[in-house]
Amino acid sequence: MTGWRADAFSAALEERGYRGIGQPFTLLDETASTNDDARRMAERGAPHGATVIADTQSAGRGRGGRRWHSPPGDNLYLSTVLRLDLPAEELAPLALAVGVAVARACDEVLAARRALVKWPNDVYLEHEKLAGVLVEAMSRAGSPPQLIVGIGVNVNARELPEGLAVPATSLALALDRDVDRIETAACLLHHLGSVVEDYATAGLASVIGELRDRDFLAGRRVQVGEIAGEAAGIDDAGRLMVRDEAGRSHPVLSGDVTWRGLS
Ligand code: BTN
Repeated sequence: MTGWRADAFSAALEERGYRGIGQPFTLLDETASTNDDARRMAERGAPHGATVIADTQSAGRGRGGRRWHSPPGDNLYLSTVLRLDLPAEELAPLALAVGVAVARACDEVLAARRALVKWPNDVYLEHEKLAGVLVEAMSRAGSPPQLIVGIGVNVNARELPEGLAVPATSLALALDRDVDRIETAACLLHHLGSVVEDYATAGLASVIGELRDRDFLAGRRVQVGEIAGEAAGIDDAGRLMVRDEAGRSHPVLSGDVTWRGLS
């Protein structure tokens, strides 16, 4: 395995402060998609917080069925099983809270720079995408849906593929030095644990202030499906508010947002 040693990862988790997510863990050299692995683990009864990390993915996927470029050696590809007894309306906004956890972890690595969350769940540094979140629900009759939270972070990639849907960057490119992938993973799981714990008791209210503070789209010209206008914040239910030219506000529940500069 290139870089993922179980003893070093275990020690990093312990050192960072275990917050209920990251144990038990499975480290893989190669897989198709860690979200599929985590789903299979959950079907076999893996507990809340069980996590799978791979060095490379041959079929890593992003939102909307897009491919998630997953070369070996450099980046972070992980998926976690969440068993939360949440009302249905609180499942979708959880992805926003996960974005906040990823942004917190990126901030720690970046020290003086602040990562932003692009609704619904991308993490940006300035105008470039640093990380993405893919939350998938698995439902079983008679029991609350379980969630698979997949996170991809560009950690040490120095060359990103041409023709990506959006400009991308990595922690190493931002810092102009290599970054410890194991420390980054432990830091991320720590923040994810703490955000999920708060979300389980207080829902989106637990992170909405910070989310608004980190809102990448605020004030930009955006287009989501048929709706075009200015991004006017995120409401208490986690919907993106878009103000059209006539001044009407449209709450957007889901979708891909394309953006331009500030209005
Ligand atoms: C996106 O930005 O569209 C979401 C990208 C999510 C990628 C991660 S990498 C680990 C996990 N396994 C996958 O196949 N996808 C997620």
